[in-house]
Amino acid sequence: MPAPDHSAYFAFRDQLLGPLRTTVLTSEQLCEAGRLIYGEPRGLSLYGIAAPDMTAKGITLLGRTVIECSVDAYTAPVADALARLHTTTAPEGPHADDPFIADLFCGSGNFGHHLGKRLSRSVHACELDPAVHSATRKNLDLVGSAIELHLLDYRDLLGKLPARSTHDTYVVEPPWGPAFTAAGLDLTRTAPPVPEILDDIRRSRDGLPCHIAIKTNDRIAHDSLARSFTGARHLAAITPEPSLPYGANMDFHLYELTG
Ligand SMILES: C[S@@+](CC[C@H](N)C(=O)[O-])C[C@H]1O[C@@H](n2cnc3c(N)ncnc32)[C@H](O)[C@@H]1O
Repeated sequence: MPAPDHSAYFAFRDQLLGPLRTTVLTSEQLCEAGRLIYGEPRGLSLYGIAAPDMTAKGITLLGRTVIECSVDAYTAPVADALARLHTTTAPEGPHADDPFIADLFCGSGNFGHHLGKRLSRSVHACELDPAVHSATRKNLDLVGSAIELHLLDYRDLLGKLPARSTHDTYVVEPPWGPAFTAAGLDLTRTAPPVPEILDDIRRSRDGLPCHIAIKTNDRIAHDSLARSFTGARHLAAITPEPSLPYGANMDFHLYELTG
């Protein structure tokens, strides 16, 4: 059988990250994105709302966010894995039983939305691009999300969030940009680089361990995931069924980061 042709996906991806980067997509474009990325229009689903229903429900998504987001079918199993972890390990810290979730590069905010709901935790999220922030603000209001959303650099959010519990969880999904290479995803080249983000998190926590949820793809370059998390403990890998060629699909990992 001939290999499926994904050239339309890569051309659409270039459009969404290029000329349509901060354009609100039409219902047709959202459905096309669902089809090209996930195999069917309903595969693009955020906040429990699938692409064909988004526009009628008032959800607005920009081109870049449609490519960069973590959809419901991916975030829900990560939230389940984290919930299992939190019920099987005893938390420690000054507010051990009241941990927070910090979605540091929140984009659509969908990751924080699912983690907050599944774990019944407060969620702090930040987004630096004013256009993304504004669309996300409206979407989160529409779905009645309690996420505390800031137009801020992640370092400023970290400065406002002292460590509470070893169950505090940070979602780390910086833009990939030049990190997305033919040889795979190089996590030392994201913007900012993942090792730098992890150091910033460590510095904000005064030695108290925490959990990290990170999105990668299914092809890692230069062992950069393990190298970025040197000294941390790998807890779980969540690998959704691939819909794109090797090197273009999303995977997720949970780590315990120690001081
Ligand atoms: C890969 S996307 C995150 C996608 C998100 N997890 C979702 O499900 O929609 C990265 C986001 O981080 C934002 N960003 C980039 N640099 C940032 C920074 N220094 N602080 C906060 N947000 C930043 C970008 O504008 C972009 O929307």
